[in-house]
Amino acid sequence: MAFRLCVTGGAGFIGSHFINYLEELRIAGEFKGQIVVYDLLTYAGDLNRIKTEDYVFVRGDVTDRDLFYQTLAQHDITHIVHFAAETHVDRSILDITDFIKTNIYGTANVLACASRYWQTLPEKFMGKHMIHISTDEVYGAIKASDTPANEASPLAPSNPYAATKAAADQLVLGEIYGNAFPATIVRSSNNFGHNQNEEKFIPKIMACLKAHRAIPIYGDGSQMRTWLSAKTFSKFLYALMTEGNTGEIINIRGEETLSNLALAQRIRSIYTRCFGCEAAPITHITDRKNHDIFYHIDNEKQFKRFPEIEFESLSDFLEATFKDQ
Ligand SMILES: NC(=O)c1ccc[n+]([C@@H]2O[C@H](COP(=O)([O-])OP(=O)(O)OC[C@H]3O[C@@H](n4cnc5c(N)ncnc54)[C@H](O)[C@@H]3O)[C@@H](O)[C@H]2O)c1
Repeated sequence: MAFRLCVTGGAGFIGSHFINYLEELRIAGEFKGQIVVYDLLTYAGDLNRIKTEDYVFVRGDVTDRDLFYQTLAQHDITHIVHFAAETHVDRSILDITDFIKTNIYGTANVLACASRYWQTLPEKFMGKHMIHISTDEVYGAIKASDTPANEASPLAPSNPYAATKAAADQLVLGEIYGNAFPATIVRSSNNFGHNQNEEKFIPKIMACLKAHRAIPIYGDGSQMRTWLSAKTFSKFLYALMTEGNTGEIINIRGEETLSNLALAQRIRSIYTRCFGCEAAPITHITDRKNHDIFYHIDNEKQFKRFPEIEFESLSDFLEATFKDQ
């Protein structure tokens, strides 16, 4: 199938990995299609992350009804992968305004424009698909001893970022159930990979090590997170895209779960091995209020549907990144 794909937030961390993965597939003759990157280029967006020129760029806000609709119509878009969001929890705690605007209103606008445009076509929703990128944080914290959240579990977000993502998920679900809108909601665990913004956990630790600065860890560092490579995540997303609309929710998670402290210690020891010098120390700073202890999601559906997708290893990524420096 020749996709005419609109990638919102394509200049961000995961969006750019997804486009770079499609380019690899294109070179291998496995992907045919046009890509439109629709991105506002906030502080988090950078087109230099995209390693191909084979796309059209539209600088725009997902809340801009006219421009987004016009982009869909002008390029006769058949598929949307909606990454665009405000994503940093600490920023959302300081000020939720942009999170409400982009994550909730922006998603409502993407849905409304796609629904309106696709319904002008004779085939309507047939062959159309929107993949909405969400997060495991919408389920809130779950104890390691409890059953992991599956796709039917209730949403219980416990930070402002997660609350806006949960609200966006509900809007997408409303369209799926209420209007038979062709969408899939993907709830992913934490991603790692090249070109992530330095405000996020792994790049922040790497930047501290490079600058021989103490590594700040919230509280005792016991918060558990599951890590998935952005490239592996892109493979799951492409598999979902090629399968077509199933109108479902799917959890996608990585294979390694670590406490923040254990991850920081692992990064330090790989640094020491690669550079043969002592790594900067870890320093414990005041914890976030009600910092979620564990995002624990069930991956039964993911393994049943896509057993063949292999995971990129976190340690291999860390080692390769240090060796490149
Ligand atoms: N990074 C993770 O570990 C992770 C885990 C689970 C889910 N997610 C979700 O994946 C998606 C992408 O995350 P990321 O880490 O790549 O984010 P990011 O912060 O790196 O990139 C976000 C991108 O969206 C763009 N953007 C922001 N506001 C916009 C607006 N109003 N209009 C158009 N573009 C706008 C930015 O310019 C940027 O390019 C998000 O929806 C996030 O909630 C991320």
